[in-house]
Amino acid sequence: MTDYILQTEHIYKYFSGKRGKFSALEDINIALSKGECLGIVGESGSGKSTLARIVCCLEEPSEGKLFLENNDITNLTAKEQRKIYQKIQMVFQNPTDSFDPRCTLHAGISEGLKNLGRTQKEILPKIEALMDKCGLPAELGKRYPYEVSGGQCQRAALVRALAMEPEILVCDEITSNLDVSVQKQLMEFLQELKKTDKMSFLFICHDLALVQQFCDRVVIMQKGKIVEAGATEKIISMPETEYTKLLMDAAF
Ligand SMILES: Nc1ncnc2c1ncn2[C@@H]1O[C@H](COP(=O)(O)OP(=O)(O)O)[C@@H](O)[C@H]1O
Ligand SMILES: [Mg+2]
Repeated sequence: MTDYILQTEHIYKYFSGKRGKFSALEDINIALSKGECLGIVGESGSGKSTLARIVCCLEEPSEGKLFLENNDITNLTAKEQRKIYQKIQMVFQNPTDSFDPRCTLHAGISEGLKNLGRTQKEILPKIEALMDKCGLPAELGKRYPYEVSGGQCQRAALVRALAMEPEILVCDEITSNLDVSVQKQLMEFLQELKKTDKMSFLFICHDLALVQQFCDRVVIMQKGKIVEAGATEKIISMPETEYTKLLMDAAF
């Protein structure tokens, strides 16, 4: 057995579309080591978010297996799943949707910790420190999701995920809606987490320039399949498929 923190084995996902059943994912094999950052790149509709949801146990694969620290976590009971949610956290592309509009950001951010039985006294300083690191004034915690900008909401979603102290953070296009300066700040913060906390990342992003800065290895996806995979530098300097070359032309 290898010492991968996360691994997928022959993952398939079928959906019913207008023209009948189709595979959104086909034979997906990825492996993530501790402290590593794996980039997932591909055009819209290539299956990146579906893979992210499966890896976070938010959706089940049609076929194949998922391993966390060599344990099969493909078909867990609801109770077992709750333990996984702490270890694998996800930040989605669209942060406003992932906060309950009836709760303040502070309430939304602290919900997971409250469910773990932490007291407000423990929660408050932790969240304020994380908010500060993500460039969010503590004051913003009192606001509702619709009272802050998309970028601020995205950073709040990141704070909520990090507050759980996950081992793996799955980021699905988290910088897409951010200004360049905010994006830079966020990426610097993620770099720091990677270095000091040995956190592992699945970093979904269509911006190959960002992937180049942040990811150790990259997987290129097209229409539900992995068409190319390897060390980021190698893929960027010597892309093998026409598709990867096209993605590079678009990015650089
Ligand atoms: N719940 C669903 N039901 C039917 N089709 C879906 C569902 N979720 C995703 N799809 C389809 O699966 C394909 C991959 O989608 P997605 O994983 O969102 O791609 P990406 O994140 O790379 O843009 C798309 O064709 C999408 O329309
Ligand atoms: Mg997506």
